Amino acid sequence: MKTTKKARPAIIIIFGGTGDLANRKLIPAFYNLFLDDWMPEKFAIIGLGRTPLDNNAYREHLRDGLTAYSRTGAPEAAKWEAFKPSITYFQSNIDSPESYQELAKQLDELDAAWGERANRLFYLSVAPKFIEAATVNINASGLASIPEQDRIVIEKPFGYNKKTAVELNKLLTQTFQEDQIYRIDHYLGKETVQNILAFRFGNALFEPLWNRNYIDNVQITVAEQVGVENRGGYYEGAGALRDMIQNHLLQILCMVAMESPASFKAEEIRNRKVDVLRAIRRIKPEEVSRYAVRGQYHEGWLKGEKVAGYREELGVDPQSNTETYAAVKFYLDNWRWQGVPFYVRTGKRMQEKHSSITIQFKPVPHSTFSNGQVDNLMPNRLTINIQPQMDIRLRFMTKKPGLSMSLNPSEMIFDYDSCSTQSPEAYETLLLDALNGDATLFMRSDQVEEAWDVITPIQEAWESRDSLDFPNYASGTWGPEAAEVLVAQQGHLWAMNALQKSTKKEC
Ligand code: BG6
Repeated sequence: MKTTKKARPAIIIIFGGTGDLANRKLIPAFYNLFLDDWMPEKFAIIGLGRTPLDNNAYREHLRDGLTAYSRTGAPEAAKWEAFKPSITYFQSNIDSPESYQELAKQLDELDAAWGERANRLFYLSVAPKFIEAATVNINASGLASIPEQDRIVIEKPFGYNKKTAVELNKLLTQTFQEDQIYRIDHYLGKETVQNILAFRFGNALFEPLWNRNYIDNVQITVAEQVGVENRGGYYEGAGALRDMIQNHLLQILCMVAMESPASFKAEEIRNRKVDVLRAIRRIKPEEVSRYAVRGQYHEGWLKGEKVAGYREELGVDPQSNTETYAAVKFYLDNWRWQGVPFYVRTGKRMQEKHSSITIQFKPVPHSTFSNGQVDNLMPNRLTINIQPQMDIRLRFMTKKPGLSMSLNPSEMIFDYDSCSTQSPEAYETLLLDALNGDATLFMRSDQVEEAWDVITPIQEAWESRDSLDFPNYASGTWGPEAAEVLVAQQGHLWAMNALQKSTKKEC
């Protein structure tokens, strides 16, 4: 969370410096922080990779990345000239201790030139199998010898299941203290996700209603239009449950369901979130099919174009049992949420790119208007649209102007775009927090382990039994029919996306 304070001098060391993430997200984020004057006065970015490259070639590659992916578009010549000397490339071998000794020399030289020991931010944007080599070597070469100044940022996946997550945490804590480890979940850096806390704890109006007495159900949807693109190899071993629900969706659920923190200190917020994860009722192995639905897309039509099925994608097994869609009904065993279903769903190749949270309130206890007739009364609904639409909408009933007493749903809307045309990217927020040593929006080891624990029964059930109906939803739809049944069992419907999108006020 941004403060106005400038961070101390910092050296950012990106393992995987020539990779996609550095090009698409990390460098654009640092560049935009630089443009907005958030970067420290003194900073250096060192990209590490195996490929032989000189600084110029590396910088040009990153400049192309800015042009293609930065929210601010192609960099202006003068700004780029000011930014680019901070970037250097360091050809290295992640397994070789000599590479780290060489790197140590470079870091020491920078410190000497600046006249002070800079903070060091190690960013591990590498496949999980390299994490051990990187952390062991960082440790052995004394690169991160000052716990108050040196931090490590790790990208997901944080393990493959609970057991491997525990092992990874153990490995990391051999080199770093827990408060030096920043496990990044980019959903937590999204403006609209952060706003959940502001909305809940900055207003007196909603908190008294935010419980089982007034809320009927909660829905969290993260729908993507893209397929697995060129990540088939990774995705085959992941699937929607691991790739999205274990992290992004459960983190959003925590923000919706958590108790009010006593302060906005990192530990306090993380404690309240982990309380939620612990309260989520563990699904019994024999009940998984009643609580969870999996899907896999086959071919279909999107934006007027024919798209391939998952099993035809590059790097995917033609008989794959990996789910590209998952929907789960969770219950929380605590006073606030007892009996309230939390439905979460995510899928690739869905009809729209659309992420939102819907808080569905209970209907009024008695309708004064129907006079025995069917009336138009709809329960209140609060919708927090996360992306691409960014707004908060409250649906409530109003009288339709005219001589008769008939009612219509109306909406009050807070629209992000009307307040700001340029919201920072999630990575900007999170990287700045990491530079400033603020871990509030990062995942602590116990959060990660609890989240794995929550999905373990589903994971195990799905791994032990192939799905007989895969592929079971066409690209360009809202997923398998069984997901409709999942919510219909309780008399619910997935909140209609079309209705949420409408900006027209009905009157
Ligand atoms: C990543 C997943 O964590 O999040 C991807 O690995 C997914 O599969 C992506 O596409 C979605 O992020 P966003 O910000 O585009 O919603």
